[in-house]
Amino acid sequence: MKKIVSLLLCVLMLCVSFSALADAQKVGVSMPTKDLQRWNQDGENMKNLLEEAGYEVDLQFAANDVQQQLNQVTNMINNGCEVVVISAIEGSSLGSALDLAKEKNIPVIAYDRLLMDNEWVSYYATFDNYMVGTVQGTYVKEALDLENADGPFYMEITAGDPGDNNANYFYSGAMDVLNPYIESGKIIVKSGQTAFSDVATPTWKTEVAQTRASSILSSFYADGSSIDAWLCSNDSTAMGVINALEDNYDGDWPIITGQDCDKSNVKKMIEGKQSMSVFKDTRTLAAQVVKMVGQILSGEEVEVNDTETYDNHIIVVPSFLCEPVFGDVNNYVELLLDSGYYTEDDLK
Ligand code: BGC
Repeated sequence: MKKIVSLLLCVLMLCVSFSALADAQKVGVSMPTKDLQRWNQDGENMKNLLEEAGYEVDLQFAANDVQQQLNQVTNMINNGCEVVVISAIEGSSLGSALDLAKEKNIPVIAYDRLLMDNEWVSYYATFDNYMVGTVQGTYVKEALDLENADGPFYMEITAGDPGDNNANYFYSGAMDVLNPYIESGKIIVKSGQTAFSDVATPTWKTEVAQTRASSILSSFYADGSSIDAWLCSNDSTAMGVINALEDNYDGDWPIITGQDCDKSNVKKMIEGKQSMSVFKDTRTLAAQVVKMVGQILSGEEVEVNDTETYDNHIIVVPSFLCEPVFGDVNNYVELLLDSGYYTEDDLK
């Protein structure tokens, strides 16, 4: 008799867990690429946290291919995802998928990168992108002591992908700090390339940044003149600049900025080749987005802290901005190791 009861109990438990699985709401997560470390982490964090919260997850990476991302998101919507979280390769290229989401009334959250030119963007969660640029620009200002030193100092600029709305914020945040010194002549940009369109790096690729930096070095610094700072919007572009300097430059090593605290760039900070980075703890962003998903699906009010900044040309998207944190060789142990973000082996 006892055996029969426990058998029945087991069957009951199995039925309950199967039906819980069948009932689990499905969430689509679309990431731009696996090429950069951060998006792998973002994707993994989102998947783990969403699953812990009881959702089924359809996580896709799009190999930096716009058409592939469009297909993936369209499939997520057609295959029953009840919320879709997207970090776009190109902010304006997912219009038809967003139109489909609207038709089916599926909320869309823009993850880290704003979705542009469409009304169907329910929320945006990111780090304060302008502040990232401010932190980078302020670092250069203080490291060169621009307020007090006579100068002139020589600087070059490498920004991000024009298809990524964030890139403009990073550039503007930094240039709003540094432009007055360029205008007064205390900073000289020998290449003359200061406009965003001249300094941008399509797809944020290290190789693209490296090719441009090498060409600047051979055209303007081959006479042995030195560079004091190279403002880079993120770590993948900073890596391109570092590679170009290693191959084409003999002068004193310049100040180089970055963003993301990618493992290979933290190693460069430890080596003294990159001066700083901006740490955007992807665990914080993922946790915030998972909270948003829960609030949306349970009909609660969704927590946002910015309803003015992020205009996608059609609507101002209610946003939650997490705070970016300055990182360098002096605080990386506390910031990245003690916090459990990386292990010591990661940085060997
Ligand atoms: C992100 C950065 C990242 C860059 C390249 C931006 O949208 O905000 O953290 O470095 O994309 O992937």
